[in-house]
Amino acid sequence: MAEYDPAAGLVVDRNLALELVRVTEAAAIAAARWIGRGDKNAADGAAVDAMRKAFDTVAISGTVVIGEGEMDEAPMLYIGEQIGLGGPSVDIAVDPLEGTSITAKGGNNAIATVALAERGCFLHAPDIYMDKLAVGPGLPDGIVDLDAPVEQNLRELAKAKKCDISDLMVCTLDRDRHKEMIRACRAAGARITLLGDGDVSGVIAVSQPEAGIDIYMGSGGAPEGVLAAAALRCIGGQLQGRLLFENDEQIARAREMGIADPKRKYRVEEMAAGNVMFAATGVTTGAMLRGVRRTASGAVTHSIVMRSKSGTVRYVEGYHNFALKPAAFVA
Ligand code: FBP
Repeated sequence: MAEYDPAAGLVVDRNLALELVRVTEAAAIAAARWIGRGDKNAADGAAVDAMRKAFDTVAISGTVVIGEGEMDEAPMLYIGEQIGLGGPSVDIAVDPLEGTSITAKGGNNAIATVALAERGCFLHAPDIYMDKLAVGPGLPDGIVDLDAPVEQNLRELAKAKKCDISDLMVCTLDRDRHKEMIRACRAAGARITLLGDGDVSGVIAVSQPEAGIDIYMGSGGAPEGVLAAAALRCIGGQLQGRLLFENDEQIARAREMGIADPKRKYRVEEMAAGNVMFAATGVTTGAMLRGVRRTASGAVTHSIVMRSKSGTVRYVEGYHNFALKPAAFVA
């Protein structure tokens, strides 16, 4: 059923959310052929190609705002590319393979992911790092802050959750640049889960009680930050993000993309506003999703899809029969 949003003046069909799952399923199935084969570029290329083809079947007039790079560096799903069959004007954020190295090594937690919002509603984040700090829903607004010391954030969070700091589980990427932050977490008594890669699902985990993560902190890709913000818009939770510029050239490019204040701290709704939809399919098994499993006749996929308007979260198990629909045409 189509929904009219008077604020935006646009019609966004809720069934689009399920269409997005076809898109992430196609990318995941394609990437899964490259699991453990040591070639992260081939895995990524397969996911991009499949996702791009799948978008040709979706009834949208989409503009890629978070994609594979600038037009001159990415052949498909580049920033500004127009995609879809035609329909409501929407902006699209994609990460066809979140966890290219994980896939190449056959590790855990790689996903194919997509988010959709009404035009102008996603932060046009350049491909640089973003400092991220996220906690789950139901906590006082601003309980943690990017500018507060690690120990203070943990203390405030523990107080709000009525537990000890030693009960808290922090999640971050295992990177040298996080050494000092990790040391501070441990010194404060918190426990830590270190991710090899994949901070989209790392951030989302704070809003999934079954994941057992209380707080996400650390820097990762800015585009991944926007995708995670899209998911938290749907399921709740706080995420603060601040772009980490390395030089003046990056700041100038960001200004061209509409970012006036390079030091700004963004909240979830400033990174993903309006009606938002988010979908992801597991490529390799992780805390959120099971990976693609080959069967005698095709493959089984496991996906999550959510909408900010209804807050509904669906897990979708797809049984794909390659005899009836070859893998290349799963969408
Ligand atoms: P790729 O899928 O592009 O390999 O990204 C994986 C990832 O771990 C992201 O989840 C994260 O945001 C980013 O890389 C962190 O970058 P870096 O590996 O440079 O620390």
